[in-house]
Amino acid sequence: MNTNHLPEPTKIAIVTGGGDCPGLNTVIRAIVKAAALRGWESVGIQDGYEGLLDPPQIQALDYRAMDALLYRGGTILGTRNRGRFSAKTGHGQARRVPEEILQEAKENFDALGLSALVCIGGDGSLTIAQQLYETGMAVVGVPKTIDNDLAATIMTFGFETAVSTAVDALDRLRSTAESHDRVMVLEVMGRYAGWIAGFAGLAGGADVILIPEIEFDYDAVARKVVAREAIGKEYTLVVVAEGAKPRGGQFVTSGETDGDREARLGGIGHVVAGEIEERTGKESRCVVLGHLQRGGQPSQWDRQLCTRFGVHAVEMIAAQQFGMMVAMTPKGMEPVSLVEAVADIRRVPPDGELVQTARALGVSLGDEL
Ligand code: F6P
Repeated sequence: MNTNHLPEPTKIAIVTGGGDCPGLNTVIRAIVKAAALRGWESVGIQDGYEGLLDPPQIQALDYRAMDALLYRGGTILGTRNRGRFSAKTGHGQARRVPEEILQEAKENFDALGLSALVCIGGDGSLTIAQQLYETGMAVVGVPKTIDNDLAATIMTFGFETAVSTAVDALDRLRSTAESHDRVMVLEVMGRYAGWIAGFAGLAGGADVILIPEIEFDYDAVARKVVAREAIGKEYTLVVVAEGAKPRGGQFVTSGETDGDREARLGGIGHVVAGEIEERTGKESRCVVLGHLQRGGQPSQWDRQLCTRFGVHAVEMIAAQQFGMMVAMTPKGMEPVSLVEAVADIRRVPPDGELVQTARALGVSLGDEL
């Protein structure tokens, strides 16, 4: 790879934005190692994009300290999914970061002598990355999110680990549900996409999978529970995505939702458990898996994905492919424009193969007549 056109010495910065996610540190490690082998210096921006504002919060990233990051959860740089850079509010409405904030970040980027900034983030953080790129900053994106809802990449990192955690929870809930003849409802994350619920539901053998892409009916869910009883299956496992909602109903949210951040989804699981109990008379309990899906070590799959993403991000900097995100495609790791990457989120096709597979197994999606 020809790196002659890059300013020397080459100093790159890494920022982690949005919610944390298993594998962030693995990506940081791969970037720092691949950059060091080219003779480049890497620094970290602390506290998400906020660390780019005055005074910038910079952390040295030493090549020799990277090994321990391979499987360490969280992000050593810290992250934020609210604050002055929020690019999404409410239920996913895009927001332009104030111009003076973007300009301040650009001035600090220049003052620090940075050649490029690697932005590791999901939909919101990559929207910010695109806006920073428009100010003239040399930006490269890496697709992170447990939600797996970025359209331009086959998969984001963190998703596989989150699904494994959800499947483990379902396996555990099955034995206790079976012992007590109960309905167990597991609420999983995913925002407005049902990928975690869909994948975990299939892998964990759920009897009912409720996803945001298909509005459900409480009576249909109750009928599934009763039908199982009729064939001697006294327990039922339900997976519900936090963004699922009943036909004609609203998202269930919790906590405060102030102006500069997205709505906090959550609570639908308890509602579903209550409605099932009322309709069937069966004892129904809910477990909200929450941030367990985001914490802890990345899975082996995610470790290799993060490593490939990190190395390709460095290669994109060397090739000056800025304003781009590294994406996993059928051809391998490819650059795609950030504009394309954040144009829309990818959701589960309601008539797609995943849903059809579930239906073919007799799994209820909550919309059966
Ligand atoms: O986008 C990742 C995610 O974990 C979503 O699945 C979830 O809705 C949201 O972040 C939760 O964010 P917070 O940690 O701010 O509650």
